[in-house]
Amino acid sequence: MPVQVILGAQWGDEGKGKVVDMLAERANIAARYQGGANAGHTVCIGEQQFVLHLIPSGIFHPHITCVIGNGVVIDPTALMDEIAQLEAAGIDIAGRLLISHNAHLIMPYHKQLDQIREAGTAKIGTTGRGIGPSYIDKFTRIGIRIVDLLDRDLLATKIKTNIEEKNQILTKIYGETKIDVDAIISEYQEFDQKIDQYVTDTALYLNRALKEGKRVIAEGAQGALLDIDHGTYPFVTSSNPTSGGACTGLGIPPTAIDSILGVAKAYCTRVGNGPFPTEQTAEIGERIRSVGHEFGATTGRPRRCGWFDAVAFKYSAMINGIERLAITKLDVLDDFDEIRMCVAYEYKGKRLKTFPTDVTSLERITPVYESFEGWKSPLADVRTYASLPAKARKYVEALSRVTEVPVWLVSVGPRRDQTMICS
Ligand code: GDP
Ligand code: IMO
Ligand code: MG
Repeated sequence: MPVQVILGAQWGDEGKGKVVDMLAERANIAARYQGGANAGHTVCIGEQQFVLHLIPSGIFHPHITCVIGNGVVIDPTALMDEIAQLEAAGIDIAGRLLISHNAHLIMPYHKQLDQIREAGTAKIGTTGRGIGPSYIDKFTRIGIRIVDLLDRDLLATKIKTNIEEKNQILTKIYGETKIDVDAIISEYQEFDQKIDQYVTDTALYLNRALKEGKRVIAEGAQGALLDIDHGTYPFVTSSNPTSGGACTGLGIPPTAIDSILGVAKAYCTRVGNGPFPTEQTAEIGERIRSVGHEFGATTGRPRRCGWFDAVAFKYSAMINGIERLAITKLDVLDDFDEIRMCVAYEYKGKRLKTFPTDVTSLERITPVYESFEGWKSPLADVRTYASLPAKARKYVEALSRVTEVPVWLVSVGPRRDQTMICS
């Protein structure tokens, strides 16, 4: 049963949007399985650039049906804005977007709590989109779901109960003012008519589609190293971007998955706090950031930049079962005399065999680098793997060799056509 999972193998922003858009041409359905509007997935169609936060990146192909699965936390305001922006650009959404009735909502108080907590001392560097607090409510079993929007009275009761508790937290712990219950109830009651046409049992829809032989892309948001269970906790997001998340976040069985594609940049970036062993804080990091336009697609924050970390990637490949690698942004390294790749970690003078996920060890390791000569020529117009400069091919081959995962796709620019398949 053909589900292809496409996920970020690093700390997010690997270029998942571009890769999903490109590969959606040969699929029938694109489905997001976790996260929320903390994601910013960029798709460039010709000269036009779109940044998607909730809607899967397959939406630009008219034949694709897009699914937002039960594992996603949905901010209805952000969703409505996104639909409006796409429609204004002439993209037809009607009948092509399905939203799980079981997906949880992000409420205004989730965003408020996220931002208040981030203003304290123990900062994660979140996007402030209310992701953590919404997943807290989901797992505490007091969350409000999409299906609740369709019953006005039940919605009002649930919002009231939730706000009573949140007001205690806001006033007694954080010294904030109380939230106005009625304003939120009437704001959210209005969503029922707007959202009704999209809501369905998406797990049932997907499983029926799979039985009919439809091809599904499961699109991950964030990246494996930001996974709540397997990432660099506590500097992670609050969901499972790893491949297992595709099953729980969509309601499809593990046996439905037949391939897992990891997307990684030819270097590394990270937004927000937390360990980043190959980070380059001086001139090299600045250069990668300015050439690669490494500023957050959601928050505009400068991304921290550094060399490709093969130790972290191998860990990512292991927990996700990544069989093929899509390398993006190779063109960003065009002008470097020397390119480095971290091939091992040393800790207290000894080589580590595995990736330590605990923050204390990760912050203390010393990366061991292999050095490559730069190709010093522009790749943006190269269209076949064979016509890449020999030094660029040498770097790509090293990525396959060191990570033990074959590079299958190489991207040399943000547009669809700036892509080559290696095999
Ligand atoms: P995502 O969150 O994984 O979808 O990635 P983002 O959209 O947040 O960030 C990737 C950025 O790199 C976007 O601005 C893309 O347009 C851009 N991009 C994607 N692939 C390439 C590439 O191969 N080369 C260059 N120069 N830019 C790329
Ligand atoms: P895409 O899908 C990069 C990071 C935040 C912060 C941490 C927790 O575009 O790759 P959160 O708001 O999720 O509670 O923040 O996770 N983060 C991302 N970093 N790309 C993303 O999404 C991210 N979504 C969250 O910067 O460090
Ligand atoms: Mg992004």
